[in-house]
Amino acid sequence: MRPLILALALALAVPPLALAAPATAAGPGSGSAHGPRDLRDLARKHRISIGSAVDVAALRAEPDYRTVLNREFDHVTAENAMKWESVEPERGVHTWDDADEVVRNARRHGQRVRGHTLVWHNQLPGWLTRGVADGTIDAAELRTILREHITTQVRRYKGKIRAWDVVNEALEEDGTLRQSIWLTHLGPGYIADAFRWAHRADPHAKLYLNDYNVEWNAPKIEGTLTLVKELQAQKVPIDGMGFQGHLGIQYGYPGDWANVMRRFADLGLEIAITEMDVRMVLPVTPEKLATQAEYYGRALSDCLSVKACREFTVWGFTDRHSWVPGWFDGEGAACLFDENLAPKPAYETLLATRRVSGR
Ligand code: G3I
Repeated sequence: MRPLILALALALAVPPLALAAPATAAGPGSGSAHGPRDLRDLARKHRISIGSAVDVAALRAEPDYRTVLNREFDHVTAENAMKWESVEPERGVHTWDDADEVVRNARRHGQRVRGHTLVWHNQLPGWLTRGVADGTIDAAELRTILREHITTQVRRYKGKIRAWDVVNEALEEDGTLRQSIWLTHLGPGYIADAFRWAHRADPHAKLYLNDYNVEWNAPKIEGTLTLVKELQAQKVPIDGMGFQGHLGIQYGYPGDWANVMRRFADLGLEIAITEMDVRMVLPVTPEKLATQAEYYGRALSDCLSVKACREFTVWGFTDRHSWVPGWFDGEGAACLFDENLAPKPAYETLLATRRVSGR
């Protein structure tokens, strides 16, 4: 079928936001003659950042992984290397090498960096969780430890990290504050404290709240909006809302996501899609890949439809190193590139995403 007829057929065959991808991806930049050659080119065209989480072991050991990462993405997030268990495995003993490698590679390849994450209930160092559990670390000391952690880490990367996920996953699914070690021992004020300490350590970094299921879960959306407004009322320096974007084709696409983004943007916040992936129940089929492509394309189009949305980051770009199979039994294939780093239909769909008026 001639290109023009094919393009017309595609335009009529799919909803405007869900761009069908060519059935077989011929590799990066296989879009139209005038289309972007890769995701960095696409990012420039749409004036946003398109990024990926980085597996630092793969960054070090796999030349083909490095090639695709640095060719395709102008923005990176350390998948695990900047988490507290990684940077301070023993109290007072910091191990920055992995985080430094992500930042070094980024600066070498003109990539902006998102810091992930300062305060979370997961991947905390054992000495911290044990000390709180056995009572040797009381609330006052825990608050001091948290302040020192945030101050030390943010200062280390001052001027090198554009935005920090300051507090990650602060809410429960019902929209109440998560019953984490932080809320239990420090009270709700830990959130404002974390943002203030981070701002003091690097006044130029953008400071984000980051969470999952805020794409669609109404109580969590309302709870997060309430939290943001409360922080703003206290003059807490919060700059952005990160939507993780962990989707699955078996659950449907969160069709109101763009409007949810707008509600946070209306509060004056930047918006970022911070951890996008679209998993599927295995085995992979062409139909599942086509649905996955639609979801990726709709998410990028939703981001582009909201002027405040500045970043579209995938949580790993290759199925070779995706977190999904280890966490969702029987599911996987969530990324833009397969295990052999061949682009999937979702990659081509992103490249074919049209400019949105007003950007
Ligand atoms: O580093 C150890 C290694 O020494 C050990 O041999 C190995 C086997 O036990 O575990 C390794 O640690 C693993 C770590 O990833 C680094 O690979 C942990 O077991 C594993 O649980 C951890 O999973 C990470 C997960 O967060 C933890 O909750 C995933 O890689 C990471 O992709 C995922 O990312 C989170 C975001 O930070 C926040 N949003 C949700 C997202 C998915 O859960």
